[in-house]
Amino acid sequence: MKILVTGAAGFIGSHVVHWLQHAGHETVLLDNLQTGKRANLPADAPFYEVDLRDQAGLAELFAVERPQALVHQAALANVRESMKDPITYAEVNIIGTLHLLELAKEYGCCKFVFASTGGAVYGEGDDRSEREREDGETDPGPSTPPFTEKSPAMPMDNYGANKLSCEHYIQLYSQNYGLPYVILRYANVYGPRQNIKGEAGVVAIFAGAMLADQPTHITGDGAQVRDFVFVEDVARANVLAVATDADGVYNLGTGQPTEINTIYRLLSELTGYRRRPDYLPRPAGEVRATWLDSTKAGQELGWEAEIDLRDGLRQTVEWVRTAAVRS
Ligand SMILES: NC(=O)c1ccc[n+]([C@@H]2O[C@H](COP(=O)([O-])OP(=O)(O)OC[C@H]3O[C@@H](n4cnc5c(N)ncnc54)[C@H](O)[C@@H]3O)[C@@H](O)[C@H]2O)c1
Repeated sequence: MKILVTGAAGFIGSHVVHWLQHAGHETVLLDNLQTGKRANLPADAPFYEVDLRDQAGLAELFAVERPQALVHQAALANVRESMKDPITYAEVNIIGTLHLLELAKEYGCCKFVFASTGGAVYGEGDDRSEREREDGETDPGPSTPPFTEKSPAMPMDNYGANKLSCEHYIQLYSQNYGLPYVILRYANVYGPRQNIKGEAGVVAIFAGAMLADQPTHITGDGAQVRDFVFVEDVARANVLAVATDADGVYNLGTGQPTEINTIYRLLSELTGYRRRPDYLPRPAGEVRATWLDSTKAGQELGWEAEIDLRDGLRQTVEWVRTAAVRS
């Protein structure tokens, strides 16, 4: 199948391209290289340096390539930045996605796979499930982690609101125009090619600082928990999503809550780092605990996270070590 991958030069998108090609698909690549890197792009696929906000540029790409499916990974994905610049975030993440949906409708694309976020869409959870039960709704899903796809969506930041809004639009295009879709709600993704100098992506940031023997810091007390899923597992899920006949929303996580302090300790062991972290105040609005139940992805997509945390961290440290040598 001929598949357009947006965000192809990014951390997750580049792994998705690799796995789609490995599965025998033809890929067409799109990125504006804002955070993505040209070096992440394979040489054997057409690349379009187009911005999601450039409606005419996207239309031209569709007219030439006529993709049969879209795997939409491109986004601005920094929670803190999204609070500082909500307009740009909405333009790229929401309007940019609408541009793609309009083209998918026009060209009758067979599948729209969307990278959403389990970390930011569910927020902290709330007590609505009890109230909804009283209202007669059956099984509204747990309001505390591990979150299922039925858990109340309560984003706490603009980025999470952007992604949830896109989910709603995708489902509307499915209802109104028959667009087949799969929405994948990723947990905290880590692995090779994650930006070691970014503000998000704690594994890569710690590994980069530790290997360079630089000071490190943890925001809050480090007891906040996340669900760390390896990037290759997430990329494989995108291949399964393209192939499935089902429409749906799927969590992609390990189901294992892991404290930031644990990540810090494991990475210290792997890198031989001996310094203690500085503990900084916890940013307002930061989610305290989130991890995901991915039973539905197991049952309907045949997916489960295969890479164990220690193995994934080891692979990431090895990559950071060689990336540091290259740069
Ligand atoms: N990393 C995570 O833990 C995580 C968790 C949940 C969801 N996601 C989602 O996964 C996707 C990939 O994230 P990532 O971590 O690989 O980030 P990334 O920044 O490495 O990748 C995003 C890519 O999108 C491109 N891009 C940004 N704005 C663009 C625009 N206006 N036009 C065209 N391209 C643009 C960037 O250049 C980059 O290559 C995003 O949609 C993100 O929201 C990531």
